[in-house]
Amino acid sequence: MRSKRSAGYSAAAKLFHWVTALAVLTAIPVALAMVRVGQGPLQNDLYDLHRSLGVLILILMAARLLWRIYRPAPPLVPGLPDWQVVAARISHWTLYAVLLAMPVLGWAGTSAFGAPIMVFGLFEWPAMLDKDEQLAGVLLGLHRWLGFALAGLLALHVAAALHHHFIRGDETLRRMLPGYRSG
Ligand code: HEM
Ligand code: HEM
Repeated sequence: MRSKRSAGYSAAAKLFHWVTALAVLTAIPVALAMVRVGQGPLQNDLYDLHRSLGVLILILMAARLLWRIYRPAPPLVPGLPDWQVVAARISHWTLYAVLLAMPVLGWAGTSAFGAPIMVFGLFEWPAMLDKDEQLAGVLLGLHRWLGFALAGLLALHVAAALHHHFIRGDETLRRMLPGYRSG
């Protein structure tokens, strides 16, 4: 029954969402592994992969925000209690802000540390700051803690999506999936 369906996300918004999700859900475990494996070629490869995914996320998020200005997100599914409307708005905007701040802090911290940022072995991403190891420590410390906050926020986000789907039984998750057409 197409007429009962709530407005959906555009194909581009869905593609941005799921490619970013895949990149973020890979970048976090790679980060956790890279700081723990000990020095060696594997550690260098994991750092390169982490930074490359981070740069990709920065580009995706910037493109995604521009797209969102051009094509605003559909209204939330109808019938939600006020607190859930507020929680959804706050958490989505916080996700956007954190997913821009994380790569920028990683980029700034890595530049201040003096390490190169090779993007998937293809080209070098420019440094943002001159070398300053003390500043690098502060920026990467912030990056690390914001990363853990992001993981917590994502856990809530996924729990909310599953709650909508399995408990409320509404269209929230379905309309973010490929193949869903709004009516
Ligand atoms: C959204 C994108 C990103 C996410 C989610 C992310 C996540 C994380 C997390 C969770 C850690 C902490 C690992 C730990 O200490 O256990 C970390 C560390 C790190 N990240 Fe990222 N990161 C992102 C982007 C970047 C970018 C773009 C760069 C650099 C170009 C970068 C460089 C680093 C570095 C160098 C560390 C190690 C810091 C240290 O030695 O304590 N990250 N990242
Ligand atoms: C790293 C992983 C993820 C990130 C960074 C992320 C980020 C976001 C953001 C920023 C939005 C708001 C989109 C907008 O209105 O412009 C959103 C919406 C959404 N996300 Fe995620 N997401 C992630 C993973 C997931 C996963 C794994 C699921 C499903 C289990 C999911 C389900 C949804 C749904 C259903 C919506 C639409 C909510 C609505 O219709 O109002 N997300 N996500």
